[in-house]
Amino acid sequence: MNASSKKNIVVFRELPPDQLARLQAAHHVVVADPKHDLAAFDAALPTAHGLIGSSYPVDAALLERAPQLEVISSVSVGVDNYALADLHTRGIVLCHTPGVLDETVADTVFALLMATSRRVVELANLVREGRWTKNIGEDLFGFDVHGKTIGLLGFGRIGQAIARRAALGFGMPVLYHARRPVDLAAQAPELQGRATHTPLNDLLARADFVVAMLPLSDATRGMIDAQLFAAMKPGAIFINGGRGATVNEAALLAALDSGHLRAAGLDVFAKEPLPMDSALRTHPRVTPLPHIGSATHETRHAMAELATTNLLQALAGERPGAVYDTAAV
Ligand code: DGY
Repeated sequence: MNASSKKNIVVFRELPPDQLARLQAAHHVVVADPKHDLAAFDAALPTAHGLIGSSYPVDAALLERAPQLEVISSVSVGVDNYALADLHTRGIVLCHTPGVLDETVADTVFALLMATSRRVVELANLVREGRWTKNIGEDLFGFDVHGKTIGLLGFGRIGQAIARRAALGFGMPVLYHARRPVDLAAQAPELQGRATHTPLNDLLARADFVVAMLPLSDATRGMIDAQLFAAMKPGAIFINGGRGATVNEAALLAALDSGHLRAAGLDVFAKEPLPMDSALRTHPRVTPLPHIGSATHETRHAMAELATTNLLQALAGERPGAVYDTAAV
């Protein structure tokens, strides 16, 4: 790479050293996390050709301050932090990291299924706090997971990875709601005869576990509301591994407090980190996680590697493997 073909890259969230080195070998790189050093980030924007990072809102005002921008490479599969219509208008390429995190996020969701139904955190605390003084009684029993019906809202790659665990590992009938039925023969043959495309209200009425894996968009914001919670089977457990803002959190709390829902396992929240005054933080029947869906050493590295490759390809004028279609919004 000669000096004239070098571009300016702003790394706005920490990258593993080996991936940072790949960028530095090819381009001019500024590492500036706006959450820690906004002035350095702002100073780098006017000359930036590429941005790479995650978990920071890249809105229209920010894009205006980056007139040379050609590509954003997000170290995430979700793209709700980006002003998609503006990116499309400006012809800025948006890359993301689908595929490499599916199994890990599915593991996290299953951890929440198990934790909520078998009361894992509550009972671990009982042991820790010295309250295990006799055999536990029925009041602390959980409910089985195996053989129960799971209802998936959203049935993309991650939803299908959850469905495989449920159907093949736990003998659970799988219902899913998606805009269109998935061609299981082509995409997930092992789920043929095991996963059923189901109208929303039917799914809500039948599922013991309702698992939301929805991306955040104008269509899904606040979609899981009081009406949907009321339509869930009494005693159902609600799990959210998609995006927090797809849920009306006040309605969720009401459904838990009334006893209509048995429990909730939440990896995502409308506002993150979860505010100290959120009732979801300490609710006895909520298992809250700090958005760890993809947070393993292996998967976070794979995401950073894919995002780095995407960025290098886009800046070299090639079509990256994982471009998000901003025209589709
Ligand atoms: C994603 O990749 O979108 C995960 O939610 C982590 O942010």
